[in-house]
Parts: sequence; C-alpha cells; structure tokens
Amino acid sequence: FQSGSLTGKTVFITAGPTREAMDPVRYISNHSSGKMGYALAEAAVEAGAKVKLISGPVNIPVPERVERVSVESAEEMLEASMLDLGLCDIFIAAAAVADYRPTAIAEHKIKKGSEEIMELHLVKNPDIVATVANSSPKPFTVGFAAETKDVLEYARSKLERKNLDLIIANDVSRSDIGFNSDENAVTLISASSTESLPQASKRQLANRLIERISAQYKSTAR
Ligand code: PMT
Repeated sequence: FQSGSLTGKTVFITAGPTREAMDPVRYISNHSSGKMGYALAEAAVEAGAKVKLISGPVNIPVPERVERVSVESAEEMLEASMLDLGLCDIFIAAAAVADYRPTAIAEHKIKKGSEEIMELHLVKNPDIVATVANSSPKPFTVGFAAETKDVLEYARSKLERKNLDLIIANDVSRSDIGFNSDENAVTLISASSTESLPQASKRQLANRLIERISAQYKSTAR
C-alpha cells in the first residue's frame, strides 16, 4: 500500500521515441532514450498513482508496479493513449513523437536505384497530447517542449496551441541534458507561473516534477 500525493489517481505517461516505417527494414526516428518518461513513471508510482506507461522502443526494463504498453508508431501511441482515457486523471507526454511519417510503407525493401537523389514523401502525424487535451472529459494534461532555441517562448506557444495545463520546457541544444543523457534541467510553465528546476538526475527531477504536477492538479477546479 502506497500513500502519497497521487494515491487513488491514474496517470498515463508517454515515453521514448516513435518509429515511422519506410519499408520492412527501415524507419525514421529520433534520439529519445525513454529515460525521462520512465523516471516520471517511477516517481508517480512512488507517489501512490496507478501508472500506464505508453512506450516507444527503448532499452529500459519496466519499472515495478507500472503497466507498460509497448508501441512503435505515433498512430499506435495515439491509439494506446486514447484507450481508457476516461480513467486517466493526469496525462504526461514525455515521448518524442515523430511529427511526420512516410506517406506509405513499401511492402518490400526499397531497392537502391541509379538516381543520386531520392525523394521521400511524408505526412503529418496526429498530435497525441493535443488530442488528449481536447477530449472530454479532459485529464490534467502536461506536455514537454523540446526546443533548441527561444525555448521558453516556443514552450508558451505550445502550452496555448495544444490546450495544455502545464508544459515542461527542455533545452535540447545541450548534450549534457535532454535527449539520451542521464540528467535534465527544465522550466515548468503554466498559464500563470514559470518555475525553473536546476540540473539534476532525471530520477530526482521526476520526483520534483511529480510533486509540482500533483499540486497544480489539485489546485485546478474540475
Ligand atoms: O527520452 P529521453 O532520452 O530521456 O529524453 C527526454 C526528452 C528530451 C525526449 C523529453 O524530456 C522531451 O522533451 N520530450 C518531448 C519531445 C518532443 O517531441 O517535444 P516537442 O516539442 O516536439 O513536442 C511537444 C509535446 O507534444 C510533447 O509533449 C510531445 O510528446 C507531444 N507530441 C508531439 C508531436 C505529436 N505528434 N504528438 C505529441 O503528443
């Protein structure tokens, strides 16, 4: 039995990259390791929550007492996120979802031709966290913003555009924090406040983030 700030609450967390297939052997993806999302899952369980971790392909074992749903593509991640969304109190989108996917997946391995230039056509993926934030009933919805410049400005515009309750701004231009590193440093932004959390291990940072998220969740009338 766990008693904490999230006892009795259900938290959905997306983590890791998505893979967007081109053909049976190739895909488009990114450098997300899943460490941030998995650390948040552990911290949420420790705070007493029931956690569903919707994860792209990563090399991290499933944390204890966490239900992991493994997915590959953004479309699969969306489907797993929407399943039982009515049970979800807090949704945290830590995954690095591919914004675009190839328009079609070739049935067979694409052969090398004589052309020097090959064109690949891409189509926009659904925005998972925006879809969740525009659902009814809407869980308390938290996004990340991975940016390489004008970090806070872009994060604020994503908070509004995606209808989020909170956004965690992440400067991914630095190699010591953000994608694939063991540490992170972020700024938490809501409509009315901005708070920077100093560099720490992703696990320590996850504890602080879960503490802030549960406090804001509780202060939001619903
Ligand atoms: O996995 P790690 O190696 O530990 O690295 C952690 C991290 C840097 C990946 C993580 O902290 C982070 O910043 N995740 C968000 C990465 C990202 O894709 O950011 P974005 O600014 O492109 O997207 C904004 C938000 O919309 C994110 O919450 C993202 O999950 C969500 N999104 C984006 C596109 C899409 N189609 N669907 C989404 O839900």
